[in-house]
This record gives sequence, structure tokens and C-alpha cells, in this order.
Amino acid sequence: MPASMPDGACASGQGPEGGEPKERSRQASAAAALDEVIALVRAASGVDLGLYRRATIERRVASRLQKLGCADYRQYAERMREDRAEAARLVEHVTIKVSRFFRNAKVYARLEEEILPTLWRQAEGRGLRLWSAGCGRGEEPYSLAILLAEAGAAKGEGRGAPTILATDIDETALAFARRGLYPESAFEEMPTDRRERYFLARPGRHGQQYEVSPCLRERVSFFRHNLLEDLAQFGSGRFDLVLCRNVLIYFEAKAQERIFRYLADSLRPGAYLCLGEAEQPPASQRRCFEVIDHRSRLYRKTSSELGQEGRPA
Ligand SMILES: C[S@@+](CC[C@H](N)C(=O)[O-])C[C@H]1O[C@@H](n2cnc3c(N)ncnc32)[C@H](O)[C@@H]1O
Repeated sequence: MPASMPDGACASGQGPEGGEPKERSRQASAAAALDEVIALVRAASGVDLGLYRRATIERRVASRLQKLGCADYRQYAERMREDRAEAARLVEHVTIKVSRFFRNAKVYARLEEEILPTLWRQAEGRGLRLWSAGCGRGEEPYSLAILLAEAGAAKGEGRGAPTILATDIDETALAFARRGLYPESAFEEMPTDRRERYFLARPGRHGQQYEVSPCLRERVSFFRHNLLEDLAQFGSGRFDLVLCRNVLIYFEAKAQERIFRYLADSLRPGAYLCLGEAEQPPASQRRCFEVIDHRSRLYRKTSSELGQEGRPA
């Protein structure tokens, strides 16, 4: 791992007399320099990388260092002061956007077969409200839009039109999602007939690409939203289904808890929450949720005592 090395602190720090203190002071100096980078990013972009997992930040910064030819965090901080766009580049680099349409297809099958029909029934003519939080480049909300289009077609869609809110911290990812032009690899988990129905083939310089059709586009509204900061933006008890998949894993435990409380608060009682494969509700919040399907990370908000525990801090 790159680190800021005080002059002459390399191999000589490993000597029998005082090697360990030197190594400790080298590590402390590197940690302080990384904190400086984090403070610069916070000042430039408002994004607090201090709440993300430290190991992830170290890895991602290390790869920027390598790309830019910086020897250590301190040099990188200098570089960031000179080039103000570097903070945004680092945020983009930390928040990886890997996704696919119908990622973990069994989760979408469960939504299609059970959760959405239940929600339609409960809604009794009211338009359903769905939220894809941390939507990346849009594969997730457009997959939901396909399910809604098909469920609506089956029912004649005479009811209040469902809405899908799709949010992410990263403007570049949102611009990509709004443009809606995807490479073939994004469709690995999606049956070809669906791709043909909802996307228009567009030959591109790097192979075939597929553009999302207007009928899906009009169902999804994209907004920039920071799950750590913009806590009151969408109100309490608003959503029938929230997907927040493969986002919590970025964060330290305390920040995970804060985001989770916020998500819990945004759901109406009886509404559903879907997390990523490696995620689950923090222990303090589990009694607010009934497990619908542990493997698919699907939960239902119970109506009891949500007010206090479910409210954002
Ligand atoms: C791996 S992608 C997940 C995409 C999609 N949900 C999925 O599971 O395929 C994680 C997304 O979380 C977003 N993200 C990271 N920190 C965030 C924050 N503080 N607020 C909102 N979104 C954030 C990233 O920009 C990225 O698009």
C-alpha cells in the first residue's frame, strides 16, 4: 500500500533498535495524508469518503496514485490541490458502477411473481411508488420498469401510473442512465426476447449497443441524491418498494446504520425492501423487518414501532 514516507524512513526503519516505532510513525503519517485527501474531496464535492470503508478507499486511492504516477498520498493531495477535477474523478473511481439488467435474476423473479402483484392489490388504484437507491447506470430501475410494464399490460394498466425514482450520488452514472445506451454485456442475465422488446439495437464503434425504449424511459425519473446527506428529501412512509442493492457494502458500520434507518423511514408500513446479496439489515433495525426471502435479501417493513427506530438520526 502506498504511504507517505518521511525522509529516510524506508529500510532503516526496520533495524533492531526502534524499527517498530518508525514503522508506526510511517503508518500514522500515511493515515494523516490519506485523511487530508479525504478532507480535500469533502471540501470540493461534499462527499464524505471518511464514511466509506477505509480498506476500499485505500485500494481505490492506490490505483489513482499508480495511474497518475504519484509516489504517496501526500503527493496525491498536492496533485488534488492543483487539479480541482481530481476530487470528482476519485469519487467516481470509488463508487464502482458494475451492474447488469436483472442482476441476480431470482430476485427479480420473486418481485415479479409475488411482491409486485401483492403491491398492486394493496394499492387499490393508487399509483405505486418504487425507489432504486444507488441505481448506478440505470440497469436496476429499467429492469423494474420492464416488470411494471408487463404487469401493467396484463392488467390493462387502468390504475394510477406507477413511478420509479432512481437516485445515485454520481452524476456521470446518472447521465449514462438518462442516455440509456448499453453494451451487450449489460444484458447477460436478461432473456433476449425482453431485450428485443424494450431496447433498440444501435451499431456502435465498439460493437452492438442497445438503447432503452421510450416506454421504459418515461417510467423512470433520475435524480442526484446522497444517501449519507440528503436524508429528508423524499419524506417518510412514501415508498412501496425500495431497492438498495450493493450500496451498503461501501460503508463503515455506523454509516450503514444511518442509511438503513433512512431507508426504513422512507417505506410505508407493509412495504418491501430489497438489499444486495452480501447485505442485511443492521442488528438494531431487524425487529422492524420481517424476512420474506433471506437468499434474495427481501424484507417487509412491519407496521409496529417504526416511528422511533425507523427515523433518521
Ligand atoms: C455497485 S453500484 C450498485 C448498482 C445497482 N444497485 C446494483 O445492485 O446493480 C453502487 C452504486 O452506489 C452508488 N453510491 C455510492 N455511494 C453513494 C451515496 N453516498 N449515495 C448514493 N449512492 C451512492 C454508486 O455511485 C454506485 O452507482
